[in-house]
Amino acid sequence: MERRDFVTNLSVALALACTGGLAACSKSDSGDPDPNPGGGGGALLTANLGSELQNTGDYKIGGGVILIRIAAGNTVSSFAALSSTCTHQGCTVARFNSSTNLIECNAPCGHGSRYTTSGAVNTGPATAALAKRTITISGSTLTVT
Ligand code: FES
Repeated sequence: MERRDFVTNLSVALALACTGGLAACSKSDSGDPDPNPGGGGGALLTANLGSELQNTGDYKIGGGVILIRIAAGNTVSSFAALSSTCTHQGCTVARFNSSTNLIECNAPCGHGSRYTTSGAVNTGPATAALAKRTITISGSTLTVT
């Protein structure tokens, strides 16, 4: 093999290896703290509004999302959907506290960060907001993507 051919083959192999590495980094799995950062693609979480999230302050965590009823009615603006992955160190937020109206990242994993229902940091150590997710409602089915 000529030196030029060897270098060309090596470059192609490295390019393929790098592409594979990037693809592996972008895949979603259960350990991915932010499985749908672009907001596109399939449903992250669904809720049956006929039986779930009926009262203001009710919430549901799953699929990397925290979904909170923030007002009466079954319109998109009646809910907040945010990434459930704390921006401090990646723990899943623990709950929504309807008394304080804040999302809490508590022990055993979290360190006390608090977020508003718009995702903004209320209390650190987190410094970045929770990412917003998209809500659609069809009939009694709410879908977060
Ligand atoms: S991981 Fe949430 S406060 Fe540290």
